Amino acid sequence: MENFTYCTPTKYVFGRGAELNAGSEAKIAGMRNVMVVYGGGSAVASGVLQRVLDSLASAGIQTVTLGGVRPNPTDDLVYKGIDMCRSGGIDSLVAVGGGSVIDTAKAIALGVPYDGDFWDFFAGKVKAETALPVGVVLTIPAAGSEGSGNSVITRIDGMRKISLRTDMALRPRFALLNPELTFTLPPYQTACGIADMMAHIMERYFSTTPDVEITDRVAEGVLTAIIEEAPKVMERPDDYQARANIMWSGTLAHNGICGTGRREDWTSHAMEHEISALYGVAHGAGLAVVFPAWMTFMAEHRPAKIAQFGRRVFGVQSHDDRTAAMEAIEALKGFYGSLGLPVTFAELGVEDPDIATLVAKLHDNKGAAIGGYYTLTAKETEEIYRLAL
Ligand code: NZQ
Ligand code: ZN
Repeated sequence: MENFTYCTPTKYVFGRGAELNAGSEAKIAGMRNVMVVYGGGSAVASGVLQRVLDSLASAGIQTVTLGGVRPNPTDDLVYKGIDMCRSGGIDSLVAVGGGSVIDTAKAIALGVPYDGDFWDFFAGKVKAETALPVGVVLTIPAAGSEGSGNSVITRIDGMRKISLRTDMALRPRFALLNPELTFTLPPYQTACGIADMMAHIMERYFSTTPDVEITDRVAEGVLTAIIEEAPKVMERPDDYQARANIMWSGTLAHNGICGTGRREDWTSHAMEHEISALYGVAHGAGLAVVFPAWMTFMAEHRPAKIAQFGRRVFGVQSHDDRTAAMEAIEALKGFYGSLGLPVTFAELGVEDPDIATLVAKLHDNKGAAIGGYYTLTAKETEEIYRLAL
């Protein structure tokens, strides 16, 4: 096991009516003049946005709203939000939604106190150290942004989708998680969220660091729970207990606990971000396509951990690592298929992907050699994209 520092400063409030704590939690966090950010309308339709605004008002907190965040959020709304915050004397943000809304709020929070262009942080020119405080009311378990220090924004100029990772600056102060808010999710969004949270664990699990049994077992446990609970939420969208288990899994998958003490990979995420930037697909669906392809490559080149994943998570029996790895991949694809997720580009609705562009942008954004589990150059990432055809 490698040395590590693990700190998740976010305060989680979980359960029915959790969003009603927005006012009290915002007050504890010292928020006085809040921008409330939301998406394309689900938070309005469900009434959660109004409940959050009422809760903030009853705590004596002033609010302005910024709606219209779209999935795979873009920089234009971030610039608009930064201008609004500055002119309105906003001191903090509350995001009501999923990863796209939370990441937009985080990027605004970073940009407001910074003199230059907020994109400098995403371009790697400046280190992100300070930001306005952000609170979260989560409506979809998927991206894990409610507990992560990350923000993923697409720059419209060049459609560059970049994931900014910070240790602390962008960790939300509080996250309010009410599983009932997820009852209204369409089945496809529920499934995409499940694929995303599984990927967050797998990116950390596929590691060459030896002797990380505790972290392996935590990761395998969360994965196993997701696989057991997923069919329940697909069959009965209003099954509170199943929704609660899936919601908490999404947070645990990405708040760092599944990665302690080891090197992580994150190639599949980098490869997927190029797909969702170019084709506008849901991030989780893109991962359901690219992750099995990455694993298929690894079954050939470094099968040991893929085989362990198959044996411990899917009950694969084969003793030979390569065979067990291939069986694991089939089991994973079968699971994704059972949720109605795509596992090929064609099923994703991308009949003829522009692989040359995907590869070029990937290495332009991430460097010539990528990956923690196995180092990949353009030759190999092209092969993996082709395995997803
Ligand atoms: O916009 P509205 O109307 O709210 O609809 C949303 C959206 O269309 C809908 N939705 C959300 N809650 C709902 C609901 N519909 C009905 N009932 C509800 N309760 O779901 C759709 C997808 O929302 P989005 O926020 O885009 O989903 P997700 O949470 O999957 O976020 C995806 C984004 O997060 C990034 C992804 O790349 C992508 O841009 N990620 C962020 C990460 C982070 N910050 O740590 C890590 C992830 O790996 C990921 O890359
Ligand atoms: Zn993800």
